[in-house]
Amino acid sequence: MIRKGKLFAGLALAGAIALTAAGCSSSTDAGNGGDGGGDETITVGFAQTGSESGWRSANTESMKTAFSAENGFDLIFNAADNDPAAQIAAVRDFINQGVDAIVIAPIVEDGWDDVLQEAADAGIPVVLEDRTVSASDDLYASWVGLDFRKEGVTAGTWAAENFGDTPTNMVVLEGTTGSAPANERAAGFDEAIEGTQIEKIDSQTGDFTRDGGKKVMEGFLQKYGVDGIDLVYAHNDDMALGAIEAIEAAGAVPGEDIKIISIDAVKDGMLALIDGKINFIVECNPLLGDLAAGIVTDVLAGNEVEKEYYVEDLSFTPEEAAKVIDSRLY
Ligand code: AHR
Repeated sequence: MIRKGKLFAGLALAGAIALTAAGCSSSTDAGNGGDGGGDETITVGFAQTGSESGWRSANTESMKTAFSAENGFDLIFNAADNDPAAQIAAVRDFINQGVDAIVIAPIVEDGWDDVLQEAADAGIPVVLEDRTVSASDDLYASWVGLDFRKEGVTAGTWAAENFGDTPTNMVVLEGTTGSAPANERAAGFDEAIEGTQIEKIDSQTGDFTRDGGKKVMEGFLQKYGVDGIDLVYAHNDDMALGAIEAIEAAGAVPGEDIKIISIDAVKDGMLALIDGKINFIVECNPLLGDLAAGIVTDVLAGNEVEKEYYVEDLSFTPEEAAKVIDSRLY
């Protein structure tokens, strides 16, 4: 349930999420003239990061469904192909178009002060979804997303419990440099493995993509050899799936010769977990659309909203994944 921060998403049932969104604010209908004006359409510019991962596809779909014409929205969608400058330009374009509200999934944390100030000066409210920014929170109305640091701590705690007593060489596949999830998932994991025998021997960005994860893992395998790496910590499933390809191509067995921990719990990741190629996954729920739409509607209606809404994540071993796989929505 939403607190100033907490919201249960669990198995990510869209209906449940919509209900918690309604519970958190006075708006029960996203859109539908939720700005208090009856049937007026709400024009929203949404600046998405790009299409780097399975998680991102599910997030985009959730946002498009929630901000649909049926729900009273006119959505102007932009995907910036993971280019921070292009994303800021897209937001500026939304401001120039005079949209009613702007939603941003910020690629990186830094660099947002000026354009957020421009939106504020133009009287256009901004709601952040998924990732956070380092700019002052006076410059946006609200944020809804996941606790990335906690995801890192959960992943690191499992690693510490399972490998912490044995000398373990770990390599890390980082998410996009400068992004909130890459920063926080690294910090949370490092915190959890402190004092254990897990040693981070290398860490490089794979940009949250399958291809990036594969390439970086190929480099690690060349440098350290199959026997020199015991554990991979991937900041998302797509990079873990790329690493699996690299490990198999090197003649080793992922999940056995080299253990893998990742984050997201998208369908392909969960299937690899059930197959034993990944050993542990921490969920990152992408179904944020209804919540974001509810927040936008409330902000435009002048209702009070919290500054932060956290959606809670689960985590899965292979056995746990097998039990829930049929009910997963992404
Ligand atoms: O910001 C969320 C992260 O972005 C997801 O974990 C990753 O898959 C995506 O690209």
